[in-house]
Amino acid sequence: MDEVRHPLFARFFHRFAGLMERELAEHRDELLAGLSGRVLEIGAGNGMNFRHYPATVDEVVALEPEAYLRSKAEEAARAAPVKVEVRSGLADRLPLEDASVDAVVSSLVLCSVPDQRSALAEFKRVLKPGGELRFLEHVRSQRPRMARVQGVFDRTGIWPRMIGGCHCARDTAGAIRAAGFEIERMRDFGVGPALGLTYPHVLGTARAGLPSAA
Ligand SMILES: C[S@@+](CC[C@H](N)C(=O)[O-])C[C@H]1O[C@@H](n2cnc3c(N)ncnc32)[C@H](O)[C@@H]1O
Repeated sequence: MDEVRHPLFARFFHRFAGLMERELAEHRDELLAGLSGRVLEIGAGNGMNFRHYPATVDEVVALEPEAYLRSKAEEAARAAPVKVEVRSGLADRLPLEDASVDAVVSSLVLCSVPDQRSALAEFKRVLKPGGELRFLEHVRSQRPRMARVQGVFDRTGIWPRMIGGCHCARDTAGAIRAAGFEIERMRDFGVGPALGLTYPHVLGTARAGLPSAA
């Protein structure tokens, strides 16, 4: 089965998710606003996005490869305002047909996938022509000194080992463009302390269409 094993992180994340939501909830509304049809959510965690989906969405297929978080996502799915089917699955091996979804949602996941390029190629594969990628991710700081610190935490493996495979120095918007998506709109914002390692965040919409960069 396609699984990741981060039992301690999973429990920590679930316990503190409510606290994080004080800052994140309004951004989740914006992330999902206007979606419709069949949506694929990657790395759904304990299902914090589910209650933010608009009624125009017919169905969400929510993949979560960590067993504890998946069980919490199943509970959240039962209370969701739209139909949510929770399954196991990895971002770089999506258990879906080509061109089968109208949108892919990735929130706080592209920091954790082992290889952003293969995950993004999979997102493109399953998106219908013209489909959109909605993303909300923390990214490398614009401040050179902070970016260097983030790089050290990633390269030494300290941060990924502590936070369930997360990386804090990734240029995720750059990776999205390099994968052949066109970013139609994006804004950045802060969650948590400005000097924290997962600062800033970006929120945006990208559309598939261009060939992948070699
Ligand atoms: C920080 S949590 C974010 C959860 C949720 N998306 C949210 O916005 O609250 C990162 C999630 O990515 C999942 N994840 C880690 N590696 C993954 C992979 N290779 N493919 C898909 N999901 C993965 C983790 O199990 C975890 O649920």
